[in-house]
Amino acid sequence: MNLYLIIIFLSVLKNGSPFDLPNQSCGSDLTIDKDHYNASEVYDVGNAYPTDAHYDKYGNLFFIESGRNLDGYYFDAKVVKANSTVPEKVNGLPDGQCYSVTVDKTSSLVYFGTGRGIYAYNYNSEDTKLVSSPEIKPNELFLDKDGNKYITESDDGVEQLYLLSGERKIRFKSLEALNEVAVDDKNNFYFIKDDKLFVLKNNLSFPTLVGNVTYEGLGQISVHKNVVYVASETLYYIHENDTALKNVNLRDNVTAIAFDSSSNLALGTYGKIVKYENKNSECYHRKH
Ligand SMILES: *[C@@H]1O[C@H](CO)[C@@H](O)[C@H](O)[C@H]1NC(C)=O
Ligand SMILES: *[C@@H]1O[C@H](CO)[C@@H](O)[C@H](O)[C@H]1NC(C)=O
Ligand SMILES: *[C@@H]1O[C@H](CO)[C@@H](O)[C@H](O)[C@H]1NC(C)=O
Ligand SMILES: *[C@@H]1O[C@H](CO)[C@@H](O)[C@H](O)[C@H]1NC(C)=O
Ligand SMILES: *[C@@H]1O[C@H](CO)[C@@H](O)[C@H](O)[C@H]1NC(C)=O
Ligand SMILES: *[C@@H]1O[C@H](CO)[C@@H](O)[C@H](O)[C@H]1NC(C)=O
Ligand SMILES: *[C@@H]1O[C@H](CO)[C@@H](O)[C@H](O)[C@H]1NC(C)=O
Repeated sequence: MNLYLIIIFLSVLKNGSPFDLPNQSCGSDLTIDKDHYNASEVYDVGNAYPTDAHYDKYGNLFFIESGRNLDGYYFDAKVVKANSTVPEKVNGLPDGQCYSVTVDKTSSLVYFGTGRGIYAYNYNSEDTKLVSSPEIKPNELFLDKDGNKYITESDDGVEQLYLLSGERKIRFKSLEALNEVAVDDKNNFYFIKDDKLFVLKNNLSFPTLVGNVTYEGLGQISVHKNVVYVASETLYYIHENDTALKNVNLRDNVTAIAFDSSSNLALGTYGKIVKYENKNSECYHRKH
């Protein structure tokens, strides 16, 4: 082994990638595993919790604002446009009844799950349009890599998972009473049930336990670059090839997590969303 190979070998052991050497003088506000972030913006969400946050490919951040007013609980879809820091209400949705938002894998189709059907976003008019029967009442809505739509609906208080085929709902019998669900780009399903994170792998017919998580009714699972993140009070993460769920020590309870196409991060906590800029390019030297 020559010296060059030894250096590569040592840096693989330390960092997992042969060409990234850490910049010792690099400070950052937040470190998750080997990723460094600095807080860059704060979006005010008022007296409410942000959940279900998703970036589209233009850098607009969609999320659900979940709060309480005189009428009880409300859920409204909001967007922080790419050139703004102020959340705006998304137009044309049933008031207070928008429970879920999702972005397809091209990051250019945005759908909203409401108490009166599924709506799609129109970028030209910045309005939304009903695209399903109003009888479909998703609590959660998400798309797999092939663009199939999945919803959860609560029947007699038990949350059920369905695949939508036109107006038809196909029930996933093995997955019920779920709290949060997300699907990765290989069609593995991650979900929280009874304070545990499970995965239903694309080649298996039964879910397997990933680890214990706290869950208090609001949270989000997000998969980015082969890492599964869970924002559910605590921020948890696990690489798809790893066996133990890890967690990050944060001051606030987190309820939302989203990554944009440049691996910048948005973390939602009561009253705000903090945008974190990815600082890996400054915190690692790229060796050639
Ligand atoms: C290392 O980090 C420091 C502090 O953030 C920064 O000023 C410097 O440019 C970085 N060095 C390289 C080579 O990126
Ligand atoms: C991140 O922010 C801290 C201040 O909070 C600063 O000292 C540090 O240089 C920043 N790091 C980078 C890579 O910009
Ligand atoms: C932000 O971008 C939108 C279009 O994407 C434009 O209509 C609006 O004027 C822009 N706002 C500002 C403050 O630049
Ligand atoms: C499922 O795929 C994983 C790799 O992603 C593999 O390790 C495992 O053996 C496969 N299981 C079955 C039952 O094919
Ligand atoms: C997960 O929680 C169960 C109790 O529900 C406990 O028995 C188990 O040891 C916990 N596992 C880990 C890895 O903490
Ligand atoms: C993770 O495992 C898969 C197969 O199980 C493999 O193809 C992939 O290279 C692994 N990724 C890392 C980063 O180790
Ligand atoms: C986080 O949530 C738990 C349980 O809901 C609560 O006991 C704790 O005080 C919260 N922590 C903060 C910092 O708000």
